[in-house]
Amino acid sequence: MRSSFLGCLSRWILPVLLLLSALPFNASATDARQIATTLCAACHGLDGNSSDPANPKIAGMDVAYLAKQLKYFASGERRNEIMAGIVATLGAADFLPLAAYFSSQKPLPGKVKDARLAELGKRIYEDGNTETGVPACAGCHQSSGAGNARFPRLAGQHQAYTLQQLGEYKTGRRATDRLMVSVAQRLSTDEMKALAEYIAGL
Ligand code: HEC
Ligand code: HEC
Repeated sequence: MRSSFLGCLSRWILPVLLLLSALPFNASATDARQIATTLCAACHGLDGNSSDPANPKIAGMDVAYLAKQLKYFASGERRNEIMAGIVATLGAADFLPLAAYFSSQKPLPGKVKDARLAELGKRIYEDGNTETGVPACAGCHQSSGAGNARFPRLAGQHQAYTLQQLGEYKTGRRATDRLMVSVAQRLSTDEMKALAEYIAGL
């Protein structure tokens, strides 16, 4: 009995285990939901609609955009200590399934707190500022702010997060995109606040 068990172990079980461990690990949709529940939900909400304005809403954003940002956090191209720490606990193979999970969640609308400020923001968003060379945001991010694979969704985002990101593009701390750096360099702080207010209500 004993020897036949050992024989079976070496002949079949061990090779199968070795083969399994050699296969590339691919996180499935179930794994992604599991990771989202245990690791991401605390800050981004399980459905990607974070309630804390310091953490971006990521529900309904394009899958390629989300996966790319996770890659940027991992490589350090996008500098953020919190997200760098998070992605360090993941494998690169987890990025796409996680991005797909949050991309498939329904984005909830944001709230405008200052209607007059939002009105100024709308003008810049739709028409830009010809005096300072700010292009219309709508030209890339669309009037609805829904975005697409190239230009991320902005609609409904927390004011604080939008404002912070525009500031980071302006100083070059976030330099993941040349276009956005040159757009932000032309924006004044007041214009950024107005844009963030308008975008929250899109
Ligand atoms: C402790 C809070 C926290 C946790 C946990 C967390 N995040 Fe984040 N996440 C943030 C913050 C803060 C930012 C904004 C980073 C910045 O300013 O660049 C962010 C940014 C992001 C972005 C970029 C969004 C955009 O619009 O560009 C993605 C994608 C993201 N997180 C995905 C995840 C995923 C997936 C997980 C779980 C594996 C996760 N996060 C866990 C706080 C968190
Ligand atoms: C020429 C096209 C273009 C124009 C015009 C443009 N953007 Fe962008 N924007 C982009 C691209 C591309 C990205 C993604 C960059 C990256 O990966 O960092 C982006 C990213 C952003 C982000 C970060 C979103 C996130 O979830 O982290 C914000 C905020 C933003 N843009 C706001 C604006 C505003 C406000 C304007 C108008 C003043 C504007 N953009 C005009 C192309 C554009």
